[in-house]
Amino acid sequence: MDNRPIGIFDSGLGGLTAVRQLLRLLPGEDIVYFGDTGRVPYGNRSRETIARYARQDCRFLLENDVKLLIAACGTVSSAAADILEEMPVPAFGVVEPAAKAAVEATHSGRIGVIGTSATVRSGAFQRCITDLRQDVQVIMQACPLFVPLVENGWIDREDPVARGMAERYLQPLREQRIDTLILGCTHYPVLAPLIQQAVGENVSIISSSEETAKEVVETLTYRGHLADGSLEQHSSFYTTGEDLDDFRNIGGHIFGYPIDDLSYVDIKDL
Ligand code: DGL
Repeated sequence: MDNRPIGIFDSGLGGLTAVRQLLRLLPGEDIVYFGDTGRVPYGNRSRETIARYARQDCRFLLENDVKLLIAACGTVSSAAADILEEMPVPAFGVVEPAAKAAVEATHSGRIGVIGTSATVRSGAFQRCITDLRQDVQVIMQACPLFVPLVENGWIDREDPVARGMAERYLQPLREQRIDTLILGCTHYPVLAPLIQQAVGENVSIISSSEETAKEVVETLTYRGHLADGSLEQHSSFYTTGEDLDDFRNIGGHIFGYPIDDLSYVDIKDL
């Protein structure tokens, strides 16, 4: 048993989709969430910058005495996965869990992956999927405008801008007749209904946030590191974004619960 919190970070609000899934499965775990909203998006930055930011994000969480780290960010997990190996506690990215689920789900062997530009450029999903199964075809598509859409709360299923964007980004994957689609960025599950509509109802959607949450639950259970249930669950949230109300409102909607314990962190202090 281990009552220390689980540390989760992302470039912004997207990682809250992983927190939501994690607490659905493990409602007794404490969470410390770090959203680098002041520097979002990460997905159009260089590998070096992404790695530097990710190290700072991890260090912040480690100072909060977390028992495990989750890079709930497809971009960090793809472009800077090596930094997770340096961590003194178990550290998870979102690539492997999503790749495994997609390989299990596909029938035709035609798997689509959407993510940020840095994620697509890294080739990490492609490598991971084809390591698991050689006879699949992986079709990648960058959707860089989805992240700002979510960060600004334009997430309504009926929103014409979001819909148009989803149709434009997903048309090539539709033409490629994929039967499985990985949401390789943790912001995207927020847009899942729109994405599903645009790619076709017959395509299985794999959420990297949900698959990673499942894998973390398995690991904690297997290692006997779950919280013992003697304490009341608590989630603390930290953001480098200056607009705390935005984080509370949009983030709360994504998280599915009110975000009460929220603090601002100055980037200079990271
Ligand atoms: N949620 C991040 C990801 O999974 C968004 C990246 C970004 O900030 O561009 O890739």
